[in-house]
Amino acid sequence: SIERRVDALLRQMTLEEKVGQLNLVSHGPPLRWEDISEGRAGALLNFNSAQDVARAQELVRQSRLKIPPLFGLDVLHGFRTQFPLPLGEAAAFSPRVSRLASEWAAKEAAYVGVNWTFAPMADLSRDSRWGRIVEGFGEDPYLGSVLTAARVEGFRKGGVAAATKHFAGYGAPQGGRDYDTTYIPRAEMYDTYLPPFRAAVEAGSASFMAAFNALNGEPSTANPWLLTDVLRKQWGFTGFVTSDWVGIGELINHGIAADGAEAARKAILAGVDMDMMGQLYIKHLPDEVRAGRVPESVIDESVRRVLRTKFRMGLFDRPSIDPTRTDAAFPTTESRQVAREVARETFVLLQNRGDVLPLPAGIRSIAVVGPLADAPHDQMGPHAARGHKEDSVTILEGIRRRAQGAGIAVRHAPACDLFCRNTEGLPAALDAVRQSDVAIAVFGEPQELSGEAASRAHLELNGRQIEVLEELAKTGKPIALVLMGGRPQVLGPVAERIPAILMAWYPGTEGGPAVADVLFGDVSPSGKLPLTWPRATGQLPLYYNRLPTGRPTKPDNRFTLQYIDEAITPLYPFGWGLSYTQFAYADAAIARRQLDQGQALEVSVSVKNVGSREGQEVVQLYTRDPVASRSRPLRELKAFEKIALKPGETKRVTLRVPVESLGFHLDDGTYLVEAGAIQVFVGGSSLAEQVGEAEIVRTFRIPPMERR
Ligand code: IFM
Repeated sequence: SIERRVDALLRQMTLEEKVGQLNLVSHGPPLRWEDISEGRAGALLNFNSAQDVARAQELVRQSRLKIPPLFGLDVLHGFRTQFPLPLGEAAAFSPRVSRLASEWAAKEAAYVGVNWTFAPMADLSRDSRWGRIVEGFGEDPYLGSVLTAARVEGFRKGGVAAATKHFAGYGAPQGGRDYDTTYIPRAEMYDTYLPPFRAAVEAGSASFMAAFNALNGEPSTANPWLLTDVLRKQWGFTGFVTSDWVGIGELINHGIAADGAEAARKAILAGVDMDMMGQLYIKHLPDEVRAGRVPESVIDESVRRVLRTKFRMGLFDRPSIDPTRTDAAFPTTESRQVAREVARETFVLLQNRGDVLPLPAGIRSIAVVGPLADAPHDQMGPHAARGHKEDSVTILEGIRRRAQGAGIAVRHAPACDLFCRNTEGLPAALDAVRQSDVAIAVFGEPQELSGEAASRAHLELNGRQIEVLEELAKTGKPIALVLMGGRPQVLGPVAERIPAILMAWYPGTEGGPAVADVLFGDVSPSGKLPLTWPRATGQLPLYYNRLPTGRPTKPDNRFTLQYIDEAITPLYPFGWGLSYTQFAYADAAIARRQLDQGQALEVSVSVKNVGSREGQEVVQLYTRDPVASRSRPLRELKAFEKIALKPGETKRVTLRVPVESLGFHLDDGTYLVEAGAIQVFVGGSSLAEQVGEAEIVRTFRIPPMERR
C-alpha cells in the first residue's frame, strides 16, 4: 500500500533529505542544479519546458533516493491555449465548463512535464477593488464550491494535481488591498469563506497553499486553527500544504517571528509542510530539530504528506519526459475549438435596450472601435502561463472573419491608446462609426490593471473611456459595448448612453471568434454574473447574500439603509444576465413541505423559451431562513442548473437541496439546522420570485468532524 511505501522510504532518509522534500524552489536563483541531485529540492516551480523538466529528472536519477520532484506552475486558465479567467468561467455557471477548461489547461501543461498547479483559487471576494478577484469564482460560497470542485477534478483528469489556494480568507483584505489584513468571525469563515476549500478536499485536491494574509491577527502561514484544526482534524485532509512565495519569511514582517528560524518553526508547527522559495526550512529546520525545538516526528509527518501525495500521483512510476516536447504543439485545432466554446458560455449580456444585439441581418457595415478590439496580449488576461499573444484571435479579427462571410464591411479605429489616456484617435473613430450601420466598442480594463497586486481604489472605467464612449454615443448610431476586464467596472453615465453591454472578461486565445459568435447571434449569451456589480466604488464591499438590517431601505425615510449620494442597489445583481430570447417560469412546486434530517428540499419548475431564438438559462434556487437564532442572509444560492431550450420548448427542472445545507455554522464549526420556515425563491437571477415555503420540523446539529 501507499502508506507502507511511504514509511519504507522515510526510514531510509536522513534528516537533511527529509527537509529537502519540504523545500520548493523556483527555476533560476536561488536554485543550484546540484540541489536536485543532492536531494535538497522536493518540489520545483516555474519549470515550464520539457527540456528543463528532463534535466531535473536526470539529476534526480543521480540522487541517493531518486525521489521524483513535483513540478509546479500557475496554470490558472490555460497553459499555451488560453481560456477565460476563472471569474469569467464562473459566469458560465457550469461545472461542466469548468471541468473542461481545467482539463485542457492541465493536458497541455502535463505534456511538457508540469504535474502540479497552484490552482484553483478558491478565495471568495465581495470586493472588486481586490485585483485577484479575477482568479476566483466571485462572491458566492455555493457557486464557488461547485466550481472549485469541478476545477480540481478537471486538473486531475488532465494529469495535474491541484494546490487549492489561498487558505484562507485572502479574498477579504481590508479596503480591497492585496495582502492586507482580514477580519472574519469564525462562524462566517465556516459559512462563507471555507466551503469552496472544503469542496476541494472532497474533490481530492492533492495540496493546499497557505494565504499571505493575517486572519483575525494570526497569519495564515502560521495558523494552527486553519491548517491543523479545520483542514486536517475537521475535514480529514491527508495531503500537504505549501506556503505561498516566501510566505514563511514574511511571518517576520507580520510581527510574529523574530528571525528565520522562529518563522520556520512556527510555520511547520502550525501545519505548513512545504516552504515556497523561502529556503528557511532547509536552512533552519535541521538545527531546530537537533536543538529540540521542533520534534522530528513533526518533520516526519510533513514528509509523509509530501511522499504520500507523490505516490498517489503515481510519480514514482511515471517515465521521464521526452525533452523534445514543446508547447509549440499548441494550440491545436481542437484546443482552439474548446476555448471558443468555453469563452462564449462566459459572456454576460448586462443590458440590451432596443435589442441592439444580436447585430441585425441586413447590415452592410460595422465600425469596430476601442483599444481592446485588437489587443492580443490583453485578451489573454493576467497569469497566462505559456500563453503567446501571437496565438490570440482578437475581437477585431473574429468580427472580420465572420463579417467577411456575410459580405459586411468592417472599419476599425482604436479611438485611444490601451489605457485610454491619449484620445488623438477619437476623430477617426467617430468617422468610422458615422460611416457604418452599427458600432461595436471594445473597452475596459487592460490586463495590467487586474490580477495579483492590482488593487484599485477607483473602479471607474480607467483613463478617458467614459468621455470617449459618450462621444461615440452622440453619433446616434446603434452601439454595443463589449467590455473586457477582470472585475466589474464602474460604468457611470455609460450604462445610460450605451444601450447594449456585453461583459466579455478576458476571453482568451479564441476570444475574438467567441465574441463574434455572440454578437452575430450564432449563439445567445448565457452567462450570469458571479458577483454583484456596483454603481460606485464606494458601495464596496457589496454582495447579494447580506444580512437583513433593522432598518431596511425605505426611499422616503432617510433613517433607513441607504446612501445619501448613491442608490443603495447594485447596477446589476448577482446571477444576472440577459439572453437573446426570453424565459418564462411557471408551476413551481415544492415536493415535500415538511422536512426532516436526511431529507431534501425538492423544487420543480417549468421553464419555457418564449422568445424566437435558442438559448440557455441558468435556473437558480435561493432560500432564506426568516426567523432563526442568528440573523440569516436575505437570500442564499442553494442550487442551480443550466439548461438549453429551443424556441417554444419547455423543460421541467428539479433542484434538490439537502436539509443538511439549510442551516449555519457556529464558531466551533458545528452546523446547526433550526426548526422553522424556509422561504424558497426560483428564477433567473438573485431577484428571483418567492415560490413558496417549506418547514424544517426539528432542530439538529452536526458536529464539525461529521460534516464531511
Ligand atoms: O501561486 C502563486 C500565488 O498565488 C502568489 N504567489 C506566487 C505563487 C506561485 O507563483
